[in-house]
Amino acid sequence: MTEYKLALVGFGGVNRALAQLIAERNEQWKTELGFTLKIVGVTDLFLGSVIGRQGLDANVLAQLPAVKGALAQLSGGDATALNEAVIKDSGADIIVEATFTNPVDGEPATSFCRWALEGGQHVVTTNKGPIALHGAELKALARRKHVAFEYEGSVMSGTPVIRLARQALAGSSIVGFEGILNGTSNFVLTSMEGGLGFAEAVEKAQALGYAEADPTADVEGHDVRLKVVILANELLDAKLKVSDVTCSGISSLSLGDIEKARQDGARWKLIGSAMRNADGSISASVEPRLLNNDHPLASIGGATNAVSFTSELLGAVTVSGPGAGRTETAFALLSDIISIHQSIARNQE
Ligand code: HSE
Repeated sequence: MTEYKLALVGFGGVNRALAQLIAERNEQWKTELGFTLKIVGVTDLFLGSVIGRQGLDANVLAQLPAVKGALAQLSGGDATALNEAVIKDSGADIIVEATFTNPVDGEPATSFCRWALEGGQHVVTTNKGPIALHGAELKALARRKHVAFEYEGSVMSGTPVIRLARQALAGSSIVGFEGILNGTSNFVLTSMEGGLGFAEAVEKAQALGYAEADPTADVEGHDVRLKVVILANELLDAKLKVSDVTCSGISSLSLGDIEKARQDGARWKLIGSAMRNADGSISASVEPRLLNNDHPLASIGGATNAVSFTSELLGAVTVSGPGAGRTETAFALLSDIISIHQSIARNQE
């Protein structure tokens, strides 16, 4: 039976949810997926670090108290924050990077990815920073080292948009996309339609685990801007930088604007989009748009995300599903690991 050894970098909600899934489902995965997962190291800014080459108890990790230095209480643990030894010395095959998104320089996540890839380890990540800011470099490094670098969860969490577009829509000639790519802002807009105030709705989204550490990134469109860069570079072969995408958010919308839209048979949505122009250039933006109620994206409510790809051969193909949430994003990591497993199996045929 194939067993992959994982080192978890960042142990907030997402990697904790992955540990929970491993605790509950490893046996089932043996038959369902043909592999099992073993956690051999965890490192976190707040909780400290632990290495257990023989395997750490996923259930103990999932239940770990959220107190400073908690990993130091485990055998093999210490209070060192974000310790690179967990990547380099734990014997992990796959590094599962789920630290916070830094939209300015992508650090420290980018360095973790780089060290792991340079050392010949596969990397799966949910982190938008390294992909949006350093994706081309990291992908080239992974190719050079013959290892995988997968990041399905960086856009729409576990809803499979990157792999769907890259694999199932390959050859359809995608020319653009538009989407609701931020669960928090869509949740806020839907809550405001129900009469809740902006600040209260943001707090609720934070409590449900949708929002970024700094929810300004959600409501001002900065989070969507990173996702537009990731999708455009991946699917339209664009070479966009974050600054190439014009960006405005939803914080200027009032309850009055939302009510006025309702009366007019329309809804405000935060839309991230990119389109290839006739001259081959790419235009990309993030902005609140007033959509008539019969627009396919108008009915997407709550934290749900949706993206509509426009392709030459199929026209519009729209996918909707969760775009945030701990377990949903942990599922994206699992889907990346499955993809690595399938690719290793293909190479062995
Ligand atoms: N804060 C993001 C959202 C999480 O609300 O969609 C996923 O990137």
